[in-house]
Order: sequence, then C-alpha cells, then structure tokens
Amino acid sequence: MAYENILFEVRDDGVAILTVNRPKSLNALNPQTLEEIDRALDEVEKNDKIKVLVITGAGEKAFIAGADITEFPKMNPLQAYKFAEKGQNVFLRLEQLPKPVIACVNGFALGGGCELAMSCDFIYASDKAKFGQPEINLGIIPGFGGTQRLARLVGRAKAKELCMTGEMISAEEAKNIGLVAKVFPAENLFEETIKVASALAQKSQVALRAIKKVIDEGIGSDLRSGCLLEANAFALTFASEDAREGVQAFLEKRKPSFKGGYDS
Ligand code: COA
Repeated sequence: MAYENILFEVRDDGVAILTVNRPKSLNALNPQTLEEIDRALDEVEKNDKIKVLVITGAGEKAFIAGADITEFPKMNPLQAYKFAEKGQNVFLRLEQLPKPVIACVNGFALGGGCELAMSCDFIYASDKAKFGQPEINLGIIPGFGGTQRLARLVGRAKAKELCMTGEMISAEEAKNIGLVAKVFPAENLFEETIKVASALAQKSQVALRAIKKVIDEGIGSDLRSGCLLEANAFALTFASEDAREGVQAFLEKRKPSFKGGYDS
C-alpha cells in the first residue's frame, strides 16, 4: 500500500530514507503517520538489501514539530492513552530494529519529533535545528517516551529542566549535553548523513547488530552483566564470515568486503 504522509526510498547503496512528509503542519505526527512509519519499519526489517535507515523531515523548517496538536481536542483520556501507547510502540520498535538508524534533524525536533530522534541510534543535526519537549506549554507531558529517553541520554536534572520549562535549545547546545552526535551547516547535513549511512552499510552487519544490542541492553543493567553480554556477543562475532574477512583483509593490507551472516 502506498504512503500518504511519508516518503520511503531504498537506495542502491543499502541506505533507506524515511522522510516524514507533512510540511504544512511541520511534519506533525498524526495517528496515520505513526501507522505509516510502522509499516515502513516492516519493510526495513524484511528487506535484506536495506542495511541502514535514515529518518528526516520534509521541507527546510522542521524535522518533526511534535504530535499533531489538532488531534488533541477530540481525544478522551482512553484515546490519549492509546495514542501514547501507539507512539511508544513504534519508537520502541525503531529503537530495537537490528539495523543502524540515524536521525537527520533538519529543523524543529519538538515533542514527538525529539522523542523520535532519541529513539534512533544517533542524531546528526543542522546548525538551524531546535530541540525541545514543549508539551508543558499545552498543559500536558511528553507521551512517546520523552521523559524516559531524555533522562537516560542527558541525565535527570537536565531532562527535568527541559520538560518543565518547555525551553527550546539549539543544535549546538543539544550537542553539548550529549543529545546530538554532530552538527553540520544546514546545506551539508543531508549529504554528510548519507555519507556516514553509506559507510555503515559497507561495514559488518553482524558486528553493527551486536554493538547496538549490547549497548542498548547493557545500559539498563549493572556493569558486570553488561560486560558479560559484551563477551558473549564478542565471541559470537567470531562465528561470522565477516570477522574472518576483516582480520584477513587487515593482514593482507587490503579493504575488507563484508557479506554479513554467520557460518552455517
Ligand atoms: N501539530 C499540528 N500542527 C502544527 C504543529 C503540531 N505539533 N506544529 C506546527 N503546526 C502547524 C501550525 O499550526 C501552522 O499551521 P497553519 O499554517 O495552518 O497555521 C504550521 O504548522 C506552521 O507553524 P507555525 O506555528 O505557523 O510556525 P512558526 O515558525 O511560527 O512556529 C513552532 C514554529 C514549531 C515554534 C510552532 O509551530 C510550535 O510551537 N509548534 C508546536 C510545537 C509543540 O508544542 N509540539 C509538541 C506537541 S505535543
């Protein structure tokens, strides 16, 4: 089925680009858009040609300016719960996707936009981007995991300050507090993001999957359990063709050619 609110492109280099495409409402997330993102994730999961996902927003102004506020007046508390649950499930799924996901934040990343970006593996931002959880100004709170992921990423006090004041911060400040990995001039952001995504698509997919899993699962556990997870995953990479190829290529002073997959 075709998409109405997103664009989805699979490139030859193994990079898929998901663009939230509702520029007239600054790419605000309504239930249909969440549904379409969910469907695109099915495609990312199933299609072996896709190695890396990049998520961005259409237009020059916004990545995503939050949940679609025009939906709120018609929601009762039960519907609000279901809306939060849907957003949380889609973002959890995104976070747990066994492939790298880069948020390419080209403008406002507010509310659900900031929450979606935080569910990606890392964030590259334009120097014009702005981040924030402004729900407090509507008399509500973040509902798509913002209170939880922000606190884990930037610490409890900064997360409380941002959620309580609703203040918008610049990309540079977002980088300084550890929310954003790199900031690029607006005109270079997309190209620089694709460059990195394309480079990741050439790396060992077995090793990338292991890094993602071990960091995400380990961060919620004590150091000893996290290190055990790491040792197990480290050992498992030794069962991959990629590990043999990577080491051999180094010894032969050539570029490795990774194929993915474990030995049968
Ligand atoms: N939901 C629905 N529509 C939204 C939206 C949202 N989250 N954010 C912006 N829009 C719409 C505006 O209503 C406006 O529509 P209109 O042209 O039909 O009037 C259009 O997008 C452009 O936004 P506008 O407010 O005119 O742009 P601006 O440059 O003056 O301000 C923002 C930009 C992002 C600061 C402002 O739009 C804003 O505060 N948005 C809401 C952010 C928010 O609270 N997000 C969390 C929601 S839970």
